[in-house]
Amino acid sequence: MSDQEVMGLIHRGQAFKNGEVWRPEKKQYFAANLFFESSTRTHKSFEVAEKKLGIDVIDFATATSSVQKGETLYDTVLTMSAIGVDCVVIRHSDENYYDALIQSPTIQCSVINGGDGSGQHPTQCLLDLMTIYEEFGSFKGLNVAIVGDITHSRVAKSNMQMLKRLGAHVYFSGPRQWYDETFDVYGTYLPLDELIGKMDVLMMLRVQHERHDPNESFSKEVYHKKFGLTDDRAKKMKEQAIIMHPAPVNRDVEIADSLVEGLQSRIVRQMTNGVYVRMAILEAILHGKA
Ligand code: CP
Repeated sequence: MSDQEVMGLIHRGQAFKNGEVWRPEKKQYFAANLFFESSTRTHKSFEVAEKKLGIDVIDFATATSSVQKGETLYDTVLTMSAIGVDCVVIRHSDENYYDALIQSPTIQCSVINGGDGSGQHPTQCLLDLMTIYEEFGSFKGLNVAIVGDITHSRVAKSNMQMLKRLGAHVYFSGPRQWYDETFDVYGTYLPLDELIGKMDVLMMLRVQHERHDPNESFSKEVYHKKFGLTDDRAKKMKEQAIIMHPAPVNRDVEIADSLVEGLQSRIVRQMTNGVYVRMAILEAILHGKA
């Protein structure tokens, strides 16, 4: 997507938030949310977005679908397309799962990536961008720190790319073993205590235990003290700086419980903005198809 297309979705998300309505180009659209990995926010905010737009949502759960008989993702989406579903939202543990779907000559429905393994989470990125834009009105020159389990975070990967493109200065912090030098092209890795007083946005990441070696030892207390946003660290933040987290949050691990709903936190707003930016994405895709 071009920067203009990204900004267009952010502005359209804001318009939906301010009460703008969708004027569909045909009477009936169908969407299916195919979640092969667990999700609360992405799944349910897409469902709310679809329902707010009047799109018919096709019920789908892997546990009661033919996935249980061994049907592949490709054949599941082929089926959705064949029965007339206009777009599918997919979360899957395989990175780039969508390549085979979008290259298929038979699959006609649009595919929205709801998160592919540790690859990308573009709709989370757009809601994060909308939240930052709402706060600061621009990305140029903003100091944004992405902190925590960066290697395993698809949110971090989408955000580092887009924030740099839009003119923000990106910084990284967290355990060295969860940082990859390939991220150096997007920003600068520094200890959190060197960054904390200079950042406009602190984007804390969930420690993704499910993607770690189960034999790896981990202490919540040690992590919180060394890499987390503690109450003491938060006192050193700029007054206008905001705290973000894609959630779900491990309270008192990557961020102190007391800060999650605090004055500088935009974590709840991120969830709310997710509905509106996803409405903008659905509208853009379905109008493009009509
Ligand atoms: N932020 C996010 O993607 O949350 P879910 O895993 O609950 O969808």
